[in-house]
This record gives sequence, C-alpha cells and structure tokens, in this order.
Amino acid sequence: MRTIEWRDGHIVAVDQTALPDAVRMLDLRTVEDLIDAIKRLAIRGAPALGVAGALGAALAVRDDPDLAGDRVAALRQARPTAVNLAWGVDRALRRLPDGPDAVLAEALAVVEEDVRCNRTLAGRGADWLLGRAARPVNVQTHCNAGGLACVEWGTALGVVRALHERDALGRVYVDETRPLLQGSRLTAWELAQLGIAHTVVVDGAGPSVLARGLADAVVVGADRIAANGDVINKIGTYPLALAAARAGIPFLVAAPESTVDLATPSGAEVEIEVRDGAEIVHIGQTTIAPAGTETLNFAFDLTPADLVTAIVTEARVIHPAKGERP
Ligand code: MRU
Repeated sequence: MRTIEWRDGHIVAVDQTALPDAVRMLDLRTVEDLIDAIKRLAIRGAPALGVAGALGAALAVRDDPDLAGDRVAALRQARPTAVNLAWGVDRALRRLPDGPDAVLAEALAVVEEDVRCNRTLAGRGADWLLGRAARPVNVQTHCNAGGLACVEWGTALGVVRALHERDALGRVYVDETRPLLQGSRLTAWELAQLGIAHTVVVDGAGPSVLARGLADAVVVGADRIAANGDVINKIGTYPLALAAARAGIPFLVAAPESTVDLATPSGAEVEIEVRDGAEIVHIGQTTIAPAGTETLNFAFDLTPADLVTAIVTEARVIHPAKGERP
C-alpha cells in the first residue's frame, strides 16, 4: 500500500487520522482539500509532505495554468517546519515553463524517488548500526517515521525494517508521542502489520528505557536538518538525544537529502510550528485539564548537532557529534 499517490487525475492518500481503527483513503481533488488534509495531519511526516507538495503543485497548475500564486503559497506554508513541503512544491514548479504535464511528470518522479531513497538510506542505516551494536539490535524510536510518513517503506522505521529483514532486530521501543499519538497509533500499527516485536511506552519513559539499557540505539526521522547538523524533529526527540548521550548509545537520524536544508545555518532559525492547545487538553472527546488551562503546544524540538551521533541519507553518513557538517 502506498501512503500517497496520483490516481486518475487526483491525489489519493491514507487518512492518518483514522488509524489504527480504520484504513481509510482520501480523494483529494483540489489544492484546498490537500491543504486541509495537511493541516489536520491526515497527511503528515516530512517525506510524505514533500510528495504532497509536488503533487499539489501539479493539481494547482492543472486547474490554473497561469498559476494562482496564492494557492501555491498557501500550500507551501500549510505546515512550516518540515522543509520537504516547500521543497516538493518548488521542485515540481521548476518545470512550469514546460507546461502542466511537465510539472506532473516531475511530481511523479518525486514519488518514485522517495521509495528508492528510503530503501537506500535504510540499508545504509542498518549497516551503520550493525557496525556499532551487537545483534539483535534493540531500538528506540519516536513519532512515526515509517511508510506512513513517506510513500512506502520509511526512514527511521525503514532502518528498523532493514534490520528485521537481516534477522538482526530485537525489539522496538515506541514512544507514544503526545499529543497526537503518532507513535502508539501509527508506528505501533505499522510494526504490528510487519510482525516486528514492539513495546509502546509513554514519552516520559523514553529516557528511562535508555538508562536501563533496554535499547542499543535511538533511531528517529527529521523534519529539517540545518547546515550545522542541528536536527528538528517531533517534540520529545531532544530528551531522547540527551538520554542517549548519557547512556553512551548512538543517536541516529535517518532522513532523505531533501530534508537537509543548507540554506538554514542552524536549528535556531527554523520556525517551530505551534499547534492548537486543544490537542493537549483533549484525548479524543475527553477533556483532560480544567477549562481555561493555558497550554504551549510546540510540535517539534531542536536536537543540537553535538548530540547527533550520525545522520544517514540516501547519499552519505554524516557524524555531527564529531564536527562533520552536512
Ligand atoms: O507532526 P508530524 O507527525 O508530521 O511529525 C512528523 C515527524 O516529526 C517525523 O519524525 C518526521 O517528519 C520524519 S518522518 C520520516
């Protein structure tokens, strides 16, 4: 199953808000529908957002060859932190002088590249880990960087799958990932589908999993990697990096080159999305804080380069903690 693709002249995507209860597909026929799906995280995860941006640009220029700039600008900014969204839009639109069909062809190339990049970076990440940890490797991850966050296969979970294929994987510890539960809803669902042993823990338990020696490495994805090697990823990643350093185990980031943003000097310059506080004070329909409670809902955090043991992409391995820069 592909998470997002172009079918019969429009975008078809898995509705990630419905999982794990139901596998429901969305038919997105307008840029406005696509922006809505992105904002409510029905489509989410940096690589999937890159693909959505590219396919969305194809939708936009097909409907309006003169290119209603406002619609494309709104799509680019639907979520500000993952660089892939704007990257995908811009890459497809570079073919605009050749006409709408060329824009679509470029967007379809982005889809296929995502699949290939994931496979390559996952294999490289598995090689890297197996050079540092004894089999079977137990891994801790955060949020969802699996096939649902990409077209298929996944980045951080792609590394996990590559280990599994080589019979070198032990157990995966999955942070539930408050407030929208991408870990317990999506990562646990993917791992169950794949028959991979996994254990969900609350986010606050993540550092203790590492301190107790239950995991041999942390493997996460990224929404943006700055030129100095700082990594922006789902809120709650930074505590895991601190705990991994304390425990003396590798903190590995698996991401495609499209997530590397050399135009941004450091993580401090990245806009961190702040989402509606209602996400924090409700679980489903249940209210879990007194009415009027103030909230601060950062969707992402910054892990400084010196805590990042390695970044693995489809092209290379970078060791930021040793001073290497992307
Ligand atoms: O808010 P989300 O669910 O889009 O956040 C996703 C993440 O933080 C992922 O870890 C990241 O995009 C990498 S996905 C391969």
